[in-house]
Amino acid sequence: MSEQREIVVTGGGTGIGLAIATRFAAAGERVTVTGRRKDVLEAAAERIGARPVAFDASDPAAVQAALAELPERVDVLVNNAGGNTDRVREAPAPGDLRGVADAWQANFAANVLSAVLVTAALEPRFADNVRVVTLGSIAAKQGSGSYGAAKAAIEAWNTDLARRLGASGSANVVAPGVVLDTEFFHGTLTQEWLAPRLAVAFDQRAGTPEEVAEAVEFLAAPGAGHITGQVIHVNGGAYGAR
Ligand SMILES: NC(=O)c1ccc[n+]([C@@H]2O[C@H](COP(=O)([O-])OP(=O)(O)OC[C@H]3O[C@@H](n4cnc5c(N)ncnc54)[C@H](OP(=O)(O)O)[C@@H]3O)[C@@H](O)[C@H]2O)c1
Repeated sequence: MSEQREIVVTGGGTGIGLAIATRFAAAGERVTVTGRRKDVLEAAAERIGARPVAFDASDPAAVQAALAELPERVDVLVNNAGGNTDRVREAPAPGDLRGVADAWQANFAANVLSAVLVTAALEPRFADNVRVVTLGSIAAKQGSGSYGAAKAAIEAWNTDLARRLGASGSANVVAPGVVLDTEFFHGTLTQEWLAPRLAVAFDQRAGTPEEVAEAVEFLAAPGAGHITGQVIHVNGGAYGAR
């Protein structure tokens, strides 16, 4: 039997991250899940047989402090933590530039810094033939303000990471379209928002966390290393890759 791989899934306590962590744990890998809410994380980790390490991935000091709890060797890093912070904030009033700046910085921190900081912290521990998979979004191509801009930044960052890893590993972005059954919408989902987005998908439906996890598992396979520096779309055809 081949040696168990050490897998780290940020934001692994809920939604897509939990589906990814569940899949790797069921395949017999050693899985560490991270997130800010200790109680949510510990309950999820216990259910699936993973190790929980609670910290804020967008806070440099918190990431640094968590290093002692994270694996000494990392075979697969899934930068999944993130989300659209506009969904949990009041929209800034017209002319409130402080509010505009705060909203943009929140999405940048949640989606860009979280991946950049955890990767920078763990890079010295990367095993040979490491796999890094980071969650982007269809929003990088289609808008959604500071959230889409942050996910677009992830694509540029991933290109550099893939180049830096060279022959020693791979780095890719998995960009889902609409995925239901996660905490992403924080109770803000409306039919008015959802219906036109499902209508443009060739299969006329939302994706599931498991379908995104399937793509992540494929990219994380030891034999998948020649696929690197790419953005893999999982959206039922709602955005055609080009
Ligand atoms: N659902 C969709 O339609 C969709 C579409 C495209 C892309 N995505 C992307 O897919 C990823 C997973 O989202 P999801 O839909 O599964 O939503 P979710 O259920 O809200 O999952 C996000 C996870 O990230 C964690 N997280 C957020 N900020 C964090 C931080 N600063 N430090 C540590 N952990 C943090 C959250 O836990 P805590 O709150 O406890 O920290 C949560 O477990 C995100 O990157 C999201 O942008 C989602």
